[in-house]
Amino acid sequence: MYLIGYDSGTSSIKATLMDAETGSVVASATSPKKEMEIIAKEAGWAEQKPQWWWDNVKLATAEMLAAANIDTGDIKAIGITYQMHGLVCVDKNKEVLRPSIIWCDSRAVPYGDKATAALGGDHCLEHLLNYPGNFTATKLAWVKENEPHIFDKIHKIMLPGDYLAMKMTGDICTTQSGLSEGILWDFKCKQVANFVMDHLGFSKDILPNIVPTFGDQGALSKEAAAELGLKAGTKIAYRAGDQPNNAFSLNVLEPGEVAATAGTSGVVYGIGDKPTYDPRSRVNTFVHVNNTDEAPRNGALLCVNGTGILNSWLKHNTTGGMDYPEMNALAGKAPIGADGLSILPYGNGAERTLENKDIGASLNGINFNTHDISHVLRAAQEGIVFALNYGFEILEGMSVEVNTVRAGDANMFLSDIFASTFANVTGATVELYNTDGSQGAARGAGVGAGTYSSFKDAFVGFKKTKTIEPKADEVEQTKQAYAKWLAVLNEKL
Ligand code: XUL
Repeated sequence: MYLIGYDSGTSSIKATLMDAETGSVVASATSPKKEMEIIAKEAGWAEQKPQWWWDNVKLATAEMLAAANIDTGDIKAIGITYQMHGLVCVDKNKEVLRPSIIWCDSRAVPYGDKATAALGGDHCLEHLLNYPGNFTATKLAWVKENEPHIFDKIHKIMLPGDYLAMKMTGDICTTQSGLSEGILWDFKCKQVANFVMDHLGFSKDILPNIVPTFGDQGALSKEAAAELGLKAGTKIAYRAGDQPNNAFSLNVLEPGEVAATAGTSGVVYGIGDKPTYDPRSRVNTFVHVNNTDEAPRNGALLCVNGTGILNSWLKHNTTGGMDYPEMNALAGKAPIGADGLSILPYGNGAERTLENKDIGASLNGINFNTHDISHVLRAAQEGIVFALNYGFEILEGMSVEVNTVRAGDANMFLSDIFASTFANVTGATVELYNTDGSQGAARGAGVGAGTYSSFKDAFVGFKKTKTIEPKADEVEQTKQAYAKWLAVLNEKL
């Protein structure tokens, strides 16, 4: 028996086929091979065409199946995880009306500020645990005001993962966690945030039906099955945003447990059972995958938009074709603190930890006689960790206690400098596990389809690969480098 997990990220789609009994990966494939394009017609905008996601789901599936050599009738269920907060609009024929305005597009910031002022910040925090901010609801407010001809044709709005599920099943649905990502979930009243919908002038009909995160979310249509090379009728049994899913992938489900990731964006995500929020909405609270009315579970999420995307920018623009391990080795030649070079990684849109300011990325304190590219590569990794630590301090202010942080043995956590700087500056122990988002989505599908009878059973084959403790002889120097970095940031704010 097999399970498929799809991780639809900003830069690529990963498909993984998992053996349900052992939890081992039978085959996986990523498409496209180079980072997917982000259309930026204006500074601060970021769009992608939903069709690209679907095309790459098909390509990744074909490559995965070619490597697997199995009977597709033995695939029990499919799980989907996806880049969060994006807006997909479709008409009555399920045709996409415009490119998706994705998570790191900043155009909705003034719409969020206006909604917060009109609805009252305290009221928003009490009900939404967030300000409307720069999420799906306010992205739609932008469309309403600027593209009324498109807005008028909208039948349903969706998140990127809902769109992929629609392509697979023909059904349009979302989850409670998904609505919370869009700031369309009222935590206090445990229902759709009607006061936000009304204030922004949206009809309730444009929201999809709600399905459970784990459970029956429809089945592959004949048409989709033919496009994917899978069996019609295969169930879609799990769906979650990439950050709640990253936490799930790491078996982070209970209060006090914390997950992190460092892909295009970097996130630290802590589980709580209380309706906590940051009074300035710099860290956001969303519904976690295992939330129920009886046992509430929220994820407090701090996001740094400019994480792997900074490292990728350096790779493509400064290294003359190095790969990431080569870049990590070169970064290791520079000392902790990169001899006083500080990089602010904020070059990917409005940053939530900075109250949605977009201050851009910058290289500070460069000395032509002492610094070389190794310092730049190290300062980039440290700068990303320091930006995460800046958010981490906000998270701790929300009484999220952080002793241990789990992450997949993937992305920037593959870099020893990154992982050890993280441990040294936060004081937390970092544990790495043999997993990634697509594997988590496959395990989620197993829970949703009843292949696993409990969350515990779903983690068969899940193993810790590495533990990184703060190193006594490095902590002081790392903290000094952070203090220097923070002074540079404060000058820009
Ligand atoms: C999380 C967030 C990003 C995207 C990236 O709130 O906006 O991590 O989900 O895919």
